[in-house]
Amino acid sequence: MRVERRPVTEEESRRANGPDWDRYADEYQATHGEFLGDTGFVWGPEGFTEAEAGILGDVAGKDVLEVGSGAGQCSRWVRTRGGRAYGLDLSLRQLQHSRRIDLETGVAVPSVLGTATQLPFADDSFDVVFSSFGALQFVSDIADAVAETARVLRTGGRYAFSITHPTRWMFPDDPGEAGLVASQSYWDRTPYVEIDDATGVVSYVEHHRTLGDWVALLAGAGFVITDLLEPEWPEHHDRVWGGWSGTRGRYTPGTAIFGARLG
Ligand SMILES: C[S@@+](CC[C@H](N)C(=O)[O-])C[C@H]1O[C@@H](n2cnc3c(N)ncnc32)[C@H](O)[C@@H]1O
Repeated sequence: MRVERRPVTEEESRRANGPDWDRYADEYQATHGEFLGDTGFVWGPEGFTEAEAGILGDVAGKDVLEVGSGAGQCSRWVRTRGGRAYGLDLSLRQLQHSRRIDLETGVAVPSVLGTATQLPFADDSFDVVFSSFGALQFVSDIADAVAETARVLRTGGRYAFSITHPTRWMFPDDPGEAGLVASQSYWDRTPYVEIDDATGVVSYVEHHRTLGDWVALLAGAGFVITDLLEPEWPEHHDRVWGGWSGTRGRYTPGTAIFGARLG
């Protein structure tokens, strides 16, 4: 596998990331499932929970959509709080894990296979749409994903999502000291691409937008931004998740959580 920074289309991103998440899902759930909690809602590797953040507001009695829902842990938390949460994910294997946990916990999240850029729901269907590290950084046509969210949300509805903090794109994805030395331009939006050496096929893609890009995207789709949370690394939290660690977390934010209201 080789890594490049180069432009990729929405179709290429989707064709790479769906199968990639299918391949990775078993390992992802085995490695992170306990930390996520079957009915838990964490916004990222810092372990900052929605119970602490309260960014979705009171979800009881609300129609809620999770985009990039994976195994549905966050949506299940919403259901335990009285919200009618539904999941959507690009990976069938992730949704199979979601179904498995539905049966194990008795808290079911009805979920659909789909993509963030073409939501299979009618206009004005939801009061809340959210993503916890789901979908958004894997999508090339991000304006379409945000516009789709605005379309399915009711006026006044809440939108919240967590992503890799945009400033992280300046650093190597290394949980150690090397990950503290800026070596890439913050303003370089060229996607991160992994290519299979044997086949030459793009096998994984991530997209970067700056904080200013996110403000413009949300405002452009009719959202009023209400929150930008940057969870601090908790003092005794020593879990390493990919490039996230206490070594880096003590100095730089790893996760950004945006909150917004539709018009
Ligand atoms: C890091 S996981 C997050 C899932 C869940 N929120 C969690 O915390 O485990 C990212 C999820 O986004 C999904 N995803 C990637 N691209 C997507 C797309 N275009 N539309 C919908 N989901 C997508 C992946 O299949 C994966 O399940």
